[in-house]
Amino acid sequence: MSQDLQKEVATRKTFAIISHPDAGKTTITEQLLLFGGAIRQAGTVKGKKTGKYATSDWMEIEKQRGISVTSSVMQFDYEGFRINILDTPGHSDFSEDTYRTLMAVDAAVMVIDSAKGIEAQTIKLFKVCRMRGIPIFTFMNKMDREGKMPLELLSELEEVLEIESYPMNWPIGMGKELMGLYDRYHGVVERYRAEEGETFLPLGEDGDLKEAHPIQNSSYYTQALEEIMLLDEAGNEFSRERIAAGELTPVFFGSALTNFGVETFLKTFVDFAPAPSPHETSEGELLPENPHFSGFVFKIQANMNPAHRDRIAFVRICSGEFERGIAVTLTRTGKQMKLANSTQFMADDRENVTRAVAGDIIGLYDTGNYQIGDTISSGSKTMAFPKLPQFTPELFMKVSAKNVMKQKHFHKGVEQLVQEGAIQLFKTWRMEDYIIGAVGQLQFEVFEHRMRNEYNSEIIMEPIGKKIARWIREEDVDEKLSTARNMLVKDRFDQPLFLFENEFAINWFRDKNPDIELTALL
Ligand code: G4P
Repeated sequence: MSQDLQKEVATRKTFAIISHPDAGKTTITEQLLLFGGAIRQAGTVKGKKTGKYATSDWMEIEKQRGISVTSSVMQFDYEGFRINILDTPGHSDFSEDTYRTLMAVDAAVMVIDSAKGIEAQTIKLFKVCRMRGIPIFTFMNKMDREGKMPLELLSELEEVLEIESYPMNWPIGMGKELMGLYDRYHGVVERYRAEEGETFLPLGEDGDLKEAHPIQNSSYYTQALEEIMLLDEAGNEFSRERIAAGELTPVFFGSALTNFGVETFLKTFVDFAPAPSPHETSEGELLPENPHFSGFVFKIQANMNPAHRDRIAFVRICSGEFERGIAVTLTRTGKQMKLANSTQFMADDRENVTRAVAGDIIGLYDTGNYQIGDTISSGSKTMAFPKLPQFTPELFMKVSAKNVMKQKHFHKGVEQLVQEGAIQLFKTWRMEDYIIGAVGQLQFEVFEHRMRNEYNSEIIMEPIGKKIARWIREEDVDEKLSTARNMLVKDRFDQPLFLFENEFAINWFRDKNPDIELTALL
């Protein structure tokens, strides 16, 4: 039994896809799903604009919640593997969301627009991946357009992201002149837009084509051979172990839009991407094939379907297998529950889960039991996975209900959106007025929009600007220390902290109160 489970778990590949907005994340996701037969034709993955800058696009997505969410967790089968793709918002204001998503995966795929190179948001998201030490696969997209030279892209990767790279394939020409990919790993040349059956030309021992072909007369082909030689001599060595440790990123070139190089990427990815790995818990290391079902909540999303007012807790399964009706303990509260109503995410539909194992993501219909970071387990009643880190918010607003008669809606909305992790909540020390904190401005806009649309609550937000939040110990609380430059507030767990005006205010405070320890979140 346990052996069967182990075998099944080994087929799971769970990864997140990250990119700067517009690099082609949605396009490549669509193509991947096509290979898995999860959708009939490209263009059906909704929520396309999730990562775009414009607020209006995001709002649109918020409106289409039911659809956009199916694009945030997708599952498909490919060559005996079951693949879970987790989408991440591209906008930097949602990096906290991304961070939590990355906690639930075993690998990450980074999509880069080869004309633009490494962009700001990629740097940020990459750093988050780095903190987790998971393998990172790079897809250099848009080779059908003129872009930066491949060697330049590689050195940017190494310099800006400080990760070593190993090109698995290499473009022959680019833009209008794109002729194909020299596939170092599979030992073939993959031709761009070739007639059927003529796509792959095998390479010989000497690195040149086994059989003569007109492509050899092209200067782009010669150039690619020269560059490959250079990489063989002076580039990084290939190492499966270093890829697994996240120290070396395998790089794939291609064009998602024209579906070139994407399947090659997928094939290689499933070969290299790790199967679900053991997890640290408060009770020691937990193996995925442990027969007890367990997992943690990394995302909560309310009102995915406004008609039903539902709320779904996304759970990464870390061990065992899920069966409908399984009895679990929510270890934070000790509450026992039967998981009767749950859902699995296929690209074109939300399917009801009957069976899912370690590595898979399931959605549990939630009536308010779960919080982000919660552990559920069918075995131990006390085990907990490590806490999901929270980012220290930097922007703050006082918030209140416009209509005092509608306090109930207001409180319910705030409570639920805070539990979702959409925003962080603080209260002034004595009066307990609400202050919300965010990492980025857009979070406030989404908050306001959702309060109005989902909770029928018009709100008043008064900016109190950028602050530096620093937590203190309860025994250090002294209301006399609270001033305009360092406001004493409490977080939603009633833990005390100061909102400092700036670094100067922190230093001044430290000078005056050397015994008070100030701590930040992530
Ligand atoms: P994102 O999810 O990372 O934000 O990017 P998305 O896939 O939406 O792609 C952004 C734009 O780049 C889209 O064009 C898309 O068609 C284009 N694109 C993606 N991959 C490639 C590629 O390999 N080559 C080329 N030439 N373009 C590519 P758009 O005009 O903004 O979108 P749409 O309005 O056509 O949907």
